Amino acid sequence: MAVLKVAQLGHPILRRRAASVPRDTLRSRDFQRFVDDLIETMREYSGVGLAAPQVHEGFQVLAVEAQKGQGEMPEIPLTVLVNPVVTLLGEAMVEDWEGCLSIPGIRGRVPRHREIRVEALDRRGEALDFTASDFYARVIQHESDHLQGIVFLDRMKSFETLTFLDEYARYWAEE
Ligand code: NI
Repeated sequence: MAVLKVAQLGHPILRRRAASVPRDTLRSRDFQRFVDDLIETMREYSGVGLAAPQVHEGFQVLAVEAQKGQGEMPEIPLTVLVNPVVTLLGEAMVEDWEGCLSIPGIRGRVPRHREIRVEALDRRGEALDFTASDFYARVIQHESDHLQGIVFLDRMKSFETLTFLDEYARYWAEE
């Protein structure tokens, strides 16, 4: 396993649409090693999600996980999604803070759909079909956006809430 280099905002791969992963690729040892590395990299940098383009691989793969004790966030089980299709359910939107390992040191408030349906393959090629809500849904929307070349800044209604981490901790974390 290896910790991969994380692409920073401005790297063109973050603005490209990722390619879907062919079924045969899922069976390869290289692909499985890549998924392990993606997970290890997410954990190394304390991210709650990481998408393949963020580690310079233009494929539709993402991982999400929030472990107990990782800030005040609710737990999210380790989930790897390949070729995910996210369907936004209902009209309900929730605004909350987001950050991104590709945009280090910055937070901003982003409106997201409260509930989504996720259809994808898992890392072994088994079909997944589930609904997610609130924080889990937010993280999946953020990461699946990366597969379309979209970053959270694009989803903000305005940049008024953009804040550096020190100022976030000082003025906003307690709200
Ligand atoms: Ni991100």
